[in-house]
Amino acid sequence: MYVYTLKLIVYVGVFSQCYCFFNQHQELNSNECFCQLKGKIDECSCSIDTVDSFNNVKIFPRLRSLLEKDFFRFFKVNLKRPCPYWADDNRCAMRYCHVESCEEDEIPIGLKGDIKHMSFKYSENEAHDCTDQSMNLDYLNKTISEKAQHDMEKWAAYDDAQDNFCVIDDKDEEAEYVDLLLNPERYTGYAGLSAQRVWKAIYLENCFRPKKSFSFNSYIQSDRLNDMCLEERVFYRVISGLHASINVHLSANYLLSSHNGLSLKNPHGEWGPNLEEFKRRFSLETTNNEGPNWLRNLYFIYLIELRAISKAAPYLERHEYYTGNTSEDYDTKMAVKDLLSVIKSFPNHFDETTMFRGSKEANKLKYEFKQHFRNITRIMDCVGCDKCRLWGKLQTQGLGTALKILFSGHFDYDDKLLNKKQMQIQRNEIVSLLNAIGRLSTSIYKLDDFRQMIK
Ligand SMILES: Cc1cc2nc3c(=O)[nH]c(=O)nc-3n(C[C@H](O)[C@H](O)[C@H](O)COP(=O)(O)OP(=O)(O)OC[C@H]3O[C@@H](n4cnc5c(N)ncnc54)[C@H](O)[C@@H]3O)c2cc1C
Ligand SMILES: *[C@@H]1O[C@H](CO)[C@@H](O)[C@H](O)[C@H]1NC(C)=O
Ligand SMILES: *[C@@H]1O[C@H](CO)[C@@H](O)[C@H](O)[C@H]1NC(C)=O
Ligand SMILES: *[C@@H]1O[C@H](CO)[C@@H](O)[C@H](O)[C@H]1NC(C)=O
Repeated sequence: MYVYTLKLIVYVGVFSQCYCFFNQHQELNSNECFCQLKGKIDECSCSIDTVDSFNNVKIFPRLRSLLEKDFFRFFKVNLKRPCPYWADDNRCAMRYCHVESCEEDEIPIGLKGDIKHMSFKYSENEAHDCTDQSMNLDYLNKTISEKAQHDMEKWAAYDDAQDNFCVIDDKDEEAEYVDLLLNPERYTGYAGLSAQRVWKAIYLENCFRPKKSFSFNSYIQSDRLNDMCLEERVFYRVISGLHASINVHLSANYLLSSHNGLSLKNPHGEWGPNLEEFKRRFSLETTNNEGPNWLRNLYFIYLIELRAISKAAPYLERHEYYTGNTSEDYDTKMAVKDLLSVIKSFPNHFDETTMFRGSKEANKLKYEFKQHFRNITRIMDCVGCDKCRLWGKLQTQGLGTALKILFSGHFDYDDKLLNKKQMQIQRNEIVSLLNAIGRLSTSIYKLDDFRQMIK
């Protein structure tokens, strides 16, 4: 027990230390960070700056080219599952709009005025709000080339021949492949009641809450986090970090041309960073001082997934990145190996052994942790915007894979035992894990752009 407590203090110290560097930039009280620091603080030389440069210089460029490979660009997902928790009243307006034919005289909303009107589409029950395809920011391009379709049959046969150890829902009959490169995560206008309800369900119903501040109206305050135990805090932070990442993306990849953007001259619109949007979402004034904490949580979830990949490296190195094209498969495998060697060289990996240690309590906590997380993956079926749901599902599945690698115990074998029992990670788990860290890596990279713009 004593050892456990000590470990916790070291652990908290490690991350407080990380935060201190950030706080100095934020000109917050940095003394506070040091009060808990006892013992082996040198364990963490990790700062926001360290992660920034490591990510931006080493990880981001590698991931970017890796994720363009065929193995990683096609993600199999079921976007048709109904929301299990509430009547899905927005679904109709959201999902089928782009396949309904429009009245010819119907003027696309974006041409009538401010594109912001788009968001009403999601917040009100306009069941037949029919807009032109190119106007529908939610539009999911499901085009898959004939050749790729043919290849996928080979992949499925190959995968089925492998001895996979768990089943995930890409086996659903309704699951289909989506080309991620054709459908970048970016601003969609999805907002209002539907989006709020999803985030709220995730935070209020599924996150562990600090017991004292039980309230349905307020989100969790970062200064209350210490009322929670380590595992609960970690859970909150990864969700918050994911949320931050999504919101960084939509700010960095925003539809800039609001009035005449989607004209004949410029049918796809002009996309790029929107500093005002970013500031609104993350500055101290507009977020009740929480913005910087949310961004810190982004770094936190990044470290969690980075560690998971590092831990699974022996498995990922052995995996055949099978697409049927020998030279492409070889390139992919080499690119993965290269990425793994860089990730393994990162000196400040998250130490998951501090979590769920020992007692029965810890096992119960681990069980709850899993249940809560499963629930969050199901809530993704309630996201009322195809493209958001696609990326939401991909990223939660990636995070789930990371948590499984870190905490299931299946990946704790050492190298010698590896030969005895070869673990398999399924295609979709690898695809989601690598794409998930790709998103986080991109967010951190984009933060630097915003930092420059603010200067
Ligand atoms: C799964 C999912 C995927 C989405 N994907 C996209 C997308 O691809 N493109 C797109 O344009 N929109 C997407 N959205 C919508 C987007 O995330 C916002 O919900 C929307 O832009 C409305 O923003 P908002 O200002 O109302 O605050 P929201 O982001 O909806 O946040 C609601 C409340 O949560 C709190 N909060 C905000 N950020 C954090 C954080 N990081 N940590 C803790 N608490 C926080 C704040 O109190 C805030 O008021 C997605 C939503 C969901 C649920
Ligand atoms: C979908 O993607 C394909 C392949 O890039 C492209 O040819 C097609 O025009 C896209 N469809 C729409 C509606 O953008
Ligand atoms: C799962 O989420 C739903 C909807 O938010 C909630 O009603 C239910 O109690 C949750 N279950 C668990 C086990 O957290
Ligand atoms: C295999 O992949 C390489 C590069 O990745 C590409 O140049 C080549 O055309 C592909 N071959 C086939 C048969 O698709």
